[in-house]
Amino acid sequence: MHYPSSSNTTCPPSSLSQQTMPLADQQDSSTKLHVIVLAFPFTSHAASLHTLVRKLAAAAQHVTFSFFNTAKSNSSILGLEAEDDLDNLKAYTVADGVPENYVFTGKRAEDIELFIKATPGNFKRAIEMAIEETRGLSEKKISCVMSDTLLWFAGEIAEEMKVPWLSLWMGAPFSLSSHFYTDLIRGMNRTGPHATAGREDEPLNFIPGMSGFRIGDLPEGILSGELESPSSIMLHRMAQMMPRAAAIAINSFEELNPTITDDLKSKFQKCLTVGPISLMSSPPSDPDENRCLSWLDEQKTASVAYVGFGTVFATPPHEQAALAEALEASGVPFLWSLKESLQVSLPEGFLDRTKGRGRGRGRVVSWVPQLRVLEHPAVGVFVTHCGWNSVLESVMGRVPMICRPFFTDQRLNRRMVEEVWGIGVGIEGGVFTRDGTMRILNLILSGEKGKKMREKLGVLKELMGKAVGPQGSSSKNFKTLLEIVSKV
Ligand SMILES: *[C@@H]1O[C@H](CO)[C@@H](O)[C@H](O)[C@H]1NC(C)=O
Ligand SMILES: *[C@@H]1O[C@H](CO)[C@@H](O)[C@H](O)[C@H]1NC(C)=O
Repeated sequence: MHYPSSSNTTCPPSSLSQQTMPLADQQDSSTKLHVIVLAFPFTSHAASLHTLVRKLAAAAQHVTFSFFNTAKSNSSILGLEAEDDLDNLKAYTVADGVPENYVFTGKRAEDIELFIKATPGNFKRAIEMAIEETRGLSEKKISCVMSDTLLWFAGEIAEEMKVPWLSLWMGAPFSLSSHFYTDLIRGMNRTGPHATAGREDEPLNFIPGMSGFRIGDLPEGILSGELESPSSIMLHRMAQMMPRAAAIAINSFEELNPTITDDLKSKFQKCLTVGPISLMSSPPSDPDENRCLSWLDEQKTASVAYVGFGTVFATPPHEQAALAEALEASGVPFLWSLKESLQVSLPEGFLDRTKGRGRGRGRVVSWVPQLRVLEHPAVGVFVTHCGWNSVLESVMGRVPMICRPFFTDQRLNRRMVEEVWGIGVGIEGGVFTRDGTMRILNLILSGEKGKKMREKLGVLKELMGKAVGPQGSSSKNFKTLLEIVSKV
């Protein structure tokens, strides 16, 4: 591949592009900076990366940002149409790896595996095409490659271009650490599909700051799961590539896990906590098409259970039914964000019985503006899979959590939420049952426990507010990140 590179400053641009280049560009070499951004197009990853890049683009208008993402993921990022306000940020399409006429077998994360198999070729082709498209217009030189940390090969693309690689981790410092220490963890322990069986409770006390976590909390792909699957291989390559990044930015803030963050700082060239990224976009821009907020306005303070498991994962049908029965029987008003295709597995008549006003009534809608919902005073508990963004948003809204983790970093997040921060509880026995869920709803909504959790949430929220405030750690780190992208 032949990429134009900014380090190759003696290379003269073609005479044509020189002529068409606006005068200002010729005078100020920084106007030529071009940052290539590679997104991971699943769950909330691409949207969070886009939010961060938008903020960088707004602050560094002389730098052009090209955002590479699949068409499907791109179309689901809100506010992307309204991008005309930023001339220096443009989206490009990357192939999703799904063959034409492909019939999905229904295997979990099939689309993710197909996508991973198509990398890095799909990104490389898209980048070449984008460069071709803009050739002759302004001859902007690529000055930096930025990517989701999962896309480890972005580091190799950057090295090929002789430009720095910036890597962005959307999870918590402790999940990053668990991946970074994969070889250490594997070296000390058996690996394979059943590697953690019977040993779930062994502490990870040989990793700095991680003694509160257990082997059973580790994401799949480190010790357990199919270690030869494309996603496990991707995660392992990612762990090995991390030290080659000019900087790794994390969607968290320094005060949250200082020991772990300090350890990572000693391992990476630069480690910058810049989060929570959701706080960078103004939540009021999220539309409320299903009129959830006005419904919440009618509810009592801290009385509503908000249920949301993200956009990707389907809760097993029997657990979803148990949760529905618990909500109905407990009389707790609820707001449930559930894709239409999954609403069919709710108990028969559930939607009709719980419609309208009064005790035990609720709303099931296909989408909610989650952060605005969590910040609404009527919401008293968040029933969640403990995805990292959800945890951060729950802290912002000061809402205690009921945690039902399923995979990836969710078990680590649950451990932190329940045992370290004391701002939520795991579901009894690890799965939703009608009675267990009713008990736990009652515990948080009517007991002292919920009150205590809200106090602790208040403390965390204050720390978080300080971090993103004018003199805060995340704001300072964002400035460092901005310097890297605008000065290379
Ligand atoms: C990305 O999605 C937005 C919003 O749906 C759309 O307007 C835009 O054309 C898309 N761009 C690409 C490159 O897919
Ligand atoms: C796994 O590694 C830890 C850390 O050295 C050790 O304490 C533990 O005994 C190991 N477990 C097994 C089964 O090897």
